[in-house]
Amino acid sequence: MSKHHFSIKFSMEFIKVLSTSFTLPILAIVFLFSFTSSQCHPLDPINPTEFNKIRIIIQKSHLSSLSNLTFHFVDLEEPEKKDVLHWMSLHKHKRVPFPYRRAKVVVRANGETYEVVVDLATRSIISENLYIGHGFPPLTLDDIVQSSRLTLRNRRFQDSILKRGLNISEVSCIPQPVGWFGQLKTRRVLNVPCFYRRGTTNFWARPIEGITTIVDIESMKIIKYIDRFISPLPKAKSANFEPSSQRSVASNDTDTSNIIIKGHEVKWDNWIFHVGFNTRAGMIVSTASIFDAARNEYRRVLYRGHVSETFVPYMDPTFEWYYRTFMDIGEFGFGRSASSLVPLLDCPRNAVYIDGYMADSEGRVVQVPKAICIFERYAGDAAWRHTENGVPGNINTKGQQEVNLAVRMVATVGNYDYTLDWEFKQSGTIRVGVSLNGVMETKAVKYTNNNQITEVVYGALVAENTIAVNHDHFLTYYLDVDVDGIDNSFIKAKLKTMRVKDRKVSPRKSYWKVVKKTMKTEIEAKTHLGLEPTELLIVNPNKMTKIGNDVSYRIIPSRPAMSLLSYDDYPQRRAAYTKYQLWVTPYNKLERWAGGFYADRSRGDDGLAILSRRNRTIDNKDIVLWYTVGLHHVPCQEDFPVMPSIYDGFELRPTNFFERNPLLKQ
Ligand code: MN
Ligand code: CU
Repeated sequence: MSKHHFSIKFSMEFIKVLSTSFTLPILAIVFLFSFTSSQCHPLDPINPTEFNKIRIIIQKSHLSSLSNLTFHFVDLEEPEKKDVLHWMSLHKHKRVPFPYRRAKVVVRANGETYEVVVDLATRSIISENLYIGHGFPPLTLDDIVQSSRLTLRNRRFQDSILKRGLNISEVSCIPQPVGWFGQLKTRRVLNVPCFYRRGTTNFWARPIEGITTIVDIESMKIIKYIDRFISPLPKAKSANFEPSSQRSVASNDTDTSNIIIKGHEVKWDNWIFHVGFNTRAGMIVSTASIFDAARNEYRRVLYRGHVSETFVPYMDPTFEWYYRTFMDIGEFGFGRSASSLVPLLDCPRNAVYIDGYMADSEGRVVQVPKAICIFERYAGDAAWRHTENGVPGNINTKGQQEVNLAVRMVATVGNYDYTLDWEFKQSGTIRVGVSLNGVMETKAVKYTNNNQITEVVYGALVAENTIAVNHDHFLTYYLDVDVDGIDNSFIKAKLKTMRVKDRKVSPRKSYWKVVKKTMKTEIEAKTHLGLEPTELLIVNPNKMTKIGNDVSYRIIPSRPAMSLLSYDDYPQRRAAYTKYQLWVTPYNKLERWAGGFYADRSRGDDGLAILSRRNRTIDNKDIVLWYTVGLHHVPCQEDFPVMPSIYDGFELRPTNFFERNPLLKQ
């Protein structure tokens, strides 16, 4: 996936910068001093006024006396969960201010990483820590833009381009993180593959092969330059894509009056939840509760949910490709990569939009207009139905349309576009999914037909001179479920085939029954999904329905996929959590990123798989689910030059949570 990382809003500027035009990128920097600072919900994202405040606090501190101060991460410092829940219970009755508001800032200065917690009310730094572990904070847009420009200006690179008979003014370079392959010492570096734009808007399909440029981004110097071979450039014509005149269906004009949005709090039908946005995770859904009409109260379902990490390893071990094993969330960020949504393409007519804000490498506010959209979705389906034709002469059909509320964002991480959806159903189900879109990473080869290929090419010939390399997409979701309260347990209910032993009882020889087992610890809980039918239940063991069933939700998985890399392969060590689809851990405010916080050049020593080794107990505790949606991408010709959307996702579905079908009149 990720060749480079930048939000689409910047893309035109960015591409300009990545070519030889040396104009500074005109980042959409906004200083909205008028923005109201009266914060409403403790989980509200950092607003523009606060971003500015944070920048000033850091600039006034001793950190600014160090060399090369750059901002790599600015986000809300997660307030204590118990404080948030307490505030929410008070908030029900009257508006009360939340007692504190803090931000977490990660800066690089003097070649080192500092973690700073800033108190926004007192405008002071309340803690500062020099990070000495492995890995580096997320890359900034500046890191990417500067390394690209450096490469394009380099004399040896220009010679290589000339040698290939190409024009440097039509070259775009897209820096990429390099992963970790056992080195004892690592630096912040980027590899800078380049592409030829002539004759196409889809430069991804015209890679300039054979050149490796490694840029040290601390000193902004090229530390390694190798030009190994020349491959023919794939033809521009086959790379182009334009929308066809195929019929598209006009979206359904339902009104938006059913959606009530106050700040970041959303109320729709029987759901109430909070939608946040940050640089790293992008869209964050918090404090989701559903109204139970029978009990006349809101009941809690999910405290916090978002994409925690992605892992996109390419399956080409050769020199120019082996390092492409991207972890987009930690290396760059889905929020950083958020595209402004395009009405009627990304979201229907009835959508309402929320802007996103984040800090650039100098701590200045960057706005992403229309970062998130929220809309009612009526797909023409029934939420339930039944035709009663058992009564002669009286055929009677009853049912109800399914109308859902969708919350969506798009992260464009270089060549790939991830459309992230959270869909709330009136039945209590939350459907979480992702559509993969965009263009594949390709490499240029001499072959124009499969019958010429005798070597291993690590992918598929999708057009003349074009191999799309095999790869995977893993998106790991952080799901702090709180089913009807904080303390939950994780139960696997397996469907076991039973033999009928007593011949006198039945002529049947077999049946299945449900065998439930509570997973007591983290190691027990990690799950390989496969053919064995298993219900994965998040139970509140302290609550029961009137007739005595455990109140629970269950997770209905997507097609199971796990990483096929060997355990001892370096990328696999960094993304060790992708060997299981599901993990359950006890809630810990500090554990949110499956690949560790410092994912760039990480060694896997602070990832989920390592955290889980402590084998903490998870029974009747505040627990967090980590679920991975995975797709093995075997490229085919239809995926070229731009792929048709492919969807995968999972559901959180109430299971003995309600007394009966909640869609019915109570
Ligand atoms: Mn929980
Ligand atoms: Cu793919």
